[in-house]
Amino acid sequence: MATPSIAVLVGSLRKGSYSRKTAQALIGLAQGRLDMHIVEIGRLSFYKEDDEPNPPAEWLAFRDAVRPADGVLFVTPEYNRSVPGALKNAIDVGSRPYGKSVWDGKPAGVVSVSPGVIGGFGANHHLRQSLVFLNMPVLQQPEAYVGGAAKLFDDAGKLTNDDTRKFLSGFVDAFEAWVLKNKR
Ligand SMILES: Cc1cc2nc3c(=O)[nH]c(=O)nc-3n(C[C@H](O)[C@H](O)[C@H](O)COP(=O)(O)O)c2cc1C
Repeated sequence: MATPSIAVLVGSLRKGSYSRKTAQALIGLAQGRLDMHIVEIGRLSFYKEDDEPNPPAEWLAFRDAVRPADGVLFVTPEYNRSVPGALKNAIDVGSRPYGKSVWDGKPAGVVSVSPGVIGGFGANHHLRQSLVFLNMPVLQQPEAYVGGAAKLFDDAGKLTNDDTRKFLSGFVDAFEAWVLKNKR
């Protein structure tokens, strides 16, 4: 059986982003079991329906990159108790044109990341609201709220916290099983 392919969307565009570092740690932990690769969202222009008849090349490239994936993993910070606009925009771009959403039916996982203690709970659950509408079955357990993110990585961006590595490893196990069960 081919290794399932997973599109990883990172909600932060920040250099040195803890979310990106967390995504990279997850990619490492999944190696050999899930082919996880980051699909970049930072160059997508704002979604505008007027442009749909002649869509910008980067919208088409983004849709083409997500469409073949067997599943999607969202790794996101929390901005004002929701997801950053860049991630919401990417979700909107992928959801259109109407009836051709690249998200439809794909199993998904959500990992929220914050230097704060709540671990991006608000973003995690706000995102889940969109994923219901997009018809993406989302892994329920374990929930992944990565708090205290500023203390988890070394200067090279490597995850150094053993408890977090153990937790993320368990998350990858559950996510792999979820993808295998739900992929089309
Ligand atoms: C516009 C903005 C809003 C933010 N709102 C929240 C918030 O609601 N909750 C939270 O825990 N952190 C919030 N933060 C702090 C982020 O968690 C912090 O900047 C984090 O490092 C961003 O994730 P990243 O490291 O992946 O870029 C906010 C940051 C910005 C720039």
